[in-house]
Amino acid sequence: MTAQVTEKEYGFFDDANKEYVITEPRTPYPWINYLGDTAFFSLISNTAGGYSFYKDAKFRRLTRYRYNNVPVDTGGRYFYVKDGDVAWSPSWKPLKVELDQYECRHGMGYTRITGKKNDVESSVLFFVPQGENLEVQQMTLTNHSAVTKTLKLFSFAEWCLWNAEDDMTNFQRNFSTGQVEVKDSVIYHKTEYRERRDHFAFYSVNTDIQGFDTDRDTFLGEYNSFDTPEVVSQGKPNNSIAHGWSPIASHYIEVTLEPGESRDFVFTLGYIEMPLDDKWEAPAVINKTKALATIARFDTVAKVQAAFKKLTDYWNNLLSKYVVESSDERLNRGVNIWNQYQNMVTFNMSRSASFFESGIGRGMGFRDSNQDLIGFVHLVPERARERILDIAATQFEDGSAYHQYQPLTKRGNAAVGGNFNDDPMWLVQSVTVYVKETGDFSILEEPVAYDNDVSKATSLFEHLTRSFNFITRNLGEHGLPLIGRADWNDCLNLNCFSMEPNESFQTTENKAGGRAESVMIAGQFVLFGNDYIELCQQLGKADEADRARSHVKAMEASIKANAWDGEWFLRAYDATGQKIGTNEADESKIFIESQGFCTMAGIGIEDGMVAKSLESVNKYLACDYGIVLNYPAFTTYRIEYGEISTYPQGYKENGGIFCHNNPWIMIGETVLGNGDRAFEYYTKIAPAYQDDKVKLHKTEPYVYAQMIAGKEAATPGQAKNSWLTGTAAWNYVAITQHILGIKPQYNGLQVDPCIPKHWADYKVTREFRGATYNIQISNPNGVSKGVKQLIVNGETIQGNLLPLFESGQTADVSVVLG
Ligand code: GLC
Ligand code: GLC
Repeated sequence: MTAQVTEKEYGFFDDANKEYVITEPRTPYPWINYLGDTAFFSLISNTAGGYSFYKDAKFRRLTRYRYNNVPVDTGGRYFYVKDGDVAWSPSWKPLKVELDQYECRHGMGYTRITGKKNDVESSVLFFVPQGENLEVQQMTLTNHSAVTKTLKLFSFAEWCLWNAEDDMTNFQRNFSTGQVEVKDSVIYHKTEYRERRDHFAFYSVNTDIQGFDTDRDTFLGEYNSFDTPEVVSQGKPNNSIAHGWSPIASHYIEVTLEPGESRDFVFTLGYIEMPLDDKWEAPAVINKTKALATIARFDTVAKVQAAFKKLTDYWNNLLSKYVVESSDERLNRGVNIWNQYQNMVTFNMSRSASFFESGIGRGMGFRDSNQDLIGFVHLVPERARERILDIAATQFEDGSAYHQYQPLTKRGNAAVGGNFNDDPMWLVQSVTVYVKETGDFSILEEPVAYDNDVSKATSLFEHLTRSFNFITRNLGEHGLPLIGRADWNDCLNLNCFSMEPNESFQTTENKAGGRAESVMIAGQFVLFGNDYIELCQQLGKADEADRARSHVKAMEASIKANAWDGEWFLRAYDATGQKIGTNEADESKIFIESQGFCTMAGIGIEDGMVAKSLESVNKYLACDYGIVLNYPAFTTYRIEYGEISTYPQGYKENGGIFCHNNPWIMIGETVLGNGDRAFEYYTKIAPAYQDDKVKLHKTEPYVYAQMIAGKEAATPGQAKNSWLTGTAAWNYVAITQHILGIKPQYNGLQVDPCIPKHWADYKVTREFRGATYNIQISNPNGVSKGVKQLIVNGETIQGNLLPLFESGQTADVSVVLG
């Protein structure tokens, strides 16, 4: 892999270190990273903004963060350095004093922010050690000057009173509940610990402190903000103890550094749970044994560095499972590093906590979590397995499902309920993808509850059957699936007619009978229904496979008869039986979702439908920044279509480039063998290819955003909602499996590339079921698709399926296209 560094206005990729390096703190929007991968998580921006939480961003938030604040991204883990009369922050914010040097390196599960001012350098490494419930902040402070300096260092964190929603609303109570304890160099946050909570938080440093503050108003001074703290201007702490109001944690450290001398400080911000009968060491005094043991695991630089090495080794290993080596450095960077990293983050968070999702709104989505899994399963299959079982347990007995569930309780979210009729079939996708990756058929026999009620448990396989049957039992008058509240497009609300601004478009289903039908679900049913049939065959369930096949055939026939508009697939039928997504309409004549699913499923390919549909996508939906969702966008509110028509033209589901479904079209193009176009669509939205659009895009240049404003928008090309989006998983599948063409199957690894004709060669190293496949692909005849010759360990084999090997073995594969 080439580790070329490309200079940019705000930063550059450092591929050798798997980092994005930000060199200008004033990025167009905060550019963030995620720390932690299982229980304890932190969001951290390039100026150290953000917050930490344990498992659930709503119910267990450790530190406070004010979304939508002015200026943006105010609040975080901050340090203030006072050098003589000059105070500055190594992360630029909050003091915003001009630095002589600034750099933020976002890496795999860690961030390092370095600031330099008047020959003093502060470099802080932030990460969450694996298996630990704390954020480590290792600061190295160096005096590069020729004189001895005595510096004053203030740390800062503001506690959230645990329930993040309550914390921002219930002030009549909250201003009276805050409690802290300070012992040695540790500041404990124990609000509500005296009553029902079995958890507290701490902020500690591995050195003696010369003072502290725990009351925000005392630290800042009344009417001040984070950029004007009174203790920093007066140069000494007040040793304040918070009683209610807003508890914080700030250590004060005096340090004298000789010329050239460095000192390290390890700060840890952690979460501790205690057994209810062991909470106290004395009345009202926290039992600190567990906290102190935790702190002791990170009280030296050597211990921190050992944990950091464990983290980087972990990521190096994860990212060795699929490695492409091509002459296109951007392709390598996207596939090998950032896309997989984003898959992990999205798998962990679903849509719950980002700089666009406040962490209090949504739990884990049923459809979202199933889809996120398809880009993650090769990384940590055991976690994918657990997730599948959690999701399936929120299914109802009739095969439908709670639309969301809460990660802390793993229970379905009753406030939202079900009736999003695309939900059931996503489970078929995730489970078949999981079994193909792992060969673990045993998951299908796991007993899994319905509605979290174990007394109703059946095998996971039976859950899939019920998903499938839910669709066949809920067909509309055109033989197409009923849409319910919405399908994949949450905003196409065909059975909800709303004129009341305060009601939800999704949950206020008010058209009795729910007559509207979805062509997207129809295509989805054919695509994943075929996966279900293949699974039944693998299991020797021939009768079930036959039964399923007849339903899938019938659906294909309904689509061809009732969902073809002449040049593309219709999108839906509305509550009065009228077509949606038709050339006869004045607006939104064509939609992406049904073109994506019907072409991926190859429906009507023999009649030219796939080719025509994709031509229409190219003609009406594709633009410079990606493929828009619908065209022309709605210009007025259409009560019969719902939320989709509420967005101004070109944004979100109304004509925005909803990146999640662009890869459906890429995959559709590969069904036709159109490698050039598939890859062109890939590069239109893949972050690594947007170097000339960074400023316009605004969001992080290393990850996908949910939406890029479309061609009809006032600001085409501007991105929003970065990080947590199904875009990551689907693009990863599109590029690695359908374009580069290395695809897990039940009995081997399939090689079926569909690439731009001018590509001469590339190599993929793929770990699959414990064996390593070194796959060298060459394209001497300049084709897009078709394996002419396949040699595995010196032997020519027929077809394009690489056989399974024992774990630990290596297969050298040479593929010639032609
Ligand atoms: C959001 C939702 C996802 C939905 C999509 C389209 O990304 O998380 O569930 O499919 O929007 O509405
Ligand atoms: C989708 C949309 C989002 C909306 C949600 C519920 O996920 O992308 O904008 O908030 O549906 O309406």
